[in-house]
Amino acid sequence: MEIRAIAPGELDAADRLVRVAFGTFLGLADPSQTFGDADVVRTRARHSPEDTLVALEGGEVVGVVQVVSWGSAAVLGPLAVAPTRWDSGVGRALLDAALTRVDASGATLTGLFTFPSSPKHVTLYHRCGFAPQHLVAVMARTVAPSDLTPTTLAGSGAGAGALASLAAVTDAHYPGLDLAREMGAALDQGVGDVVVLENGRGFALCHLGAGEAASSVCYVKFAAVAPGPSAARDFAALLGGVDALAHAAGLTTIEAGVDTGRTGAFAALAAAGWRIQFLGVRMSRPGLLGWSGPEAFVLDDLR
Ligand SMILES: CC(C)(COP(=O)(O)OP(=O)(O)OC[C@H]1O[C@@H](n2cnc3c(N)ncnc32)[C@H](O)[C@@H]1OP(=O)(O)O)[C@@H](O)C(=O)NCCC(=O)NCCS
Repeated sequence: MEIRAIAPGELDAADRLVRVAFGTFLGLADPSQTFGDADVVRTRARHSPEDTLVALEGGEVVGVVQVVSWGSAAVLGPLAVAPTRWDSGVGRALLDAALTRVDASGATLTGLFTFPSSPKHVTLYHRCGFAPQHLVAVMARTVAPSDLTPTTLAGSGAGAGALASLAAVTDAHYPGLDLAREMGAALDQGVGDVVVLENGRGFALCHLGAGEAASSVCYVKFAAVAPGPSAARDFAALLGGVDALAHAAGLTTIEAGVDTGRTGAFAALAAAGWRIQFLGVRMSRPGLLGWSGPEAFVLDDLR
């Protein structure tokens, strides 16, 4: 078996494999349709192909793993192996290769989202140094009509400097946490936008009916406000901006994930009518909470 960075001609095979693997695991009637028109694998691989690894046997793609850099942290996933090759070590080999890359990058924490009720998943990751943390709730709500005009980065001509200034917000939650690369990937590919609070104390990266979001969905890939006495108020204002952005884009649903250990943020979403769609568990290596905790008004699900 060979493991290496994906080649452009392998994108379709990798995309198909990830859908079929997840759909088979979840018992879907047609696994090839898993995730609908959300385009997770291609969106990530197009922007940084070196962070998508494939496992090949006889020239055929039999496994895929992606890693995204969030500054001092790395996010691992999706990891998928062709169902015909399950339980023969392909997943573990891909994980080891991905973690070798992460360790060389100097990341101090790697996080992932997985299925808490699957002994296989929790064991596989645990053997590689990951420890289970809180449940993660993937939540959604219907977009509320809004006549606000949020401040956003797309089309504003904001360059790398604007992205870099938002790093102060995330750095206050976890040293070195920086979403600039993730935001740049969405902005460069025109699949999303970033809502920025006027006071500079928060931002939300949203995929807008494209990229990692299905066509009618605004997927809040990551959102955070600076810690402090105004955090709850800033968070409410940020969610108002996300509504306005989603409404202006003609989308019907907003989706976001929240670590349930972020009790303030979790309660705020529940009080605002968001409902849990499904649950996962956050695992981290080493076993640190990272940017989670009762006071952390942060949204992400590490998917
Ligand atoms: C999860 C997935 C990537 C694993 O890939 P894989 O190639 O089957 O995994 P491996 O064979 O390398 O390792 C699986 C390990 O789990 C172990 N395992 C399987 N069932 C287990 C159980 N019930 N309890 C404990 N361990 C179990 C196996 O014994 C094996 O460990 P070993 O090699 O030390 O014996 C693959 O099943 C897949 O694609 N699933 C669908 C997509 C998915 O769920 N991706 C991950 C989302 S977070």
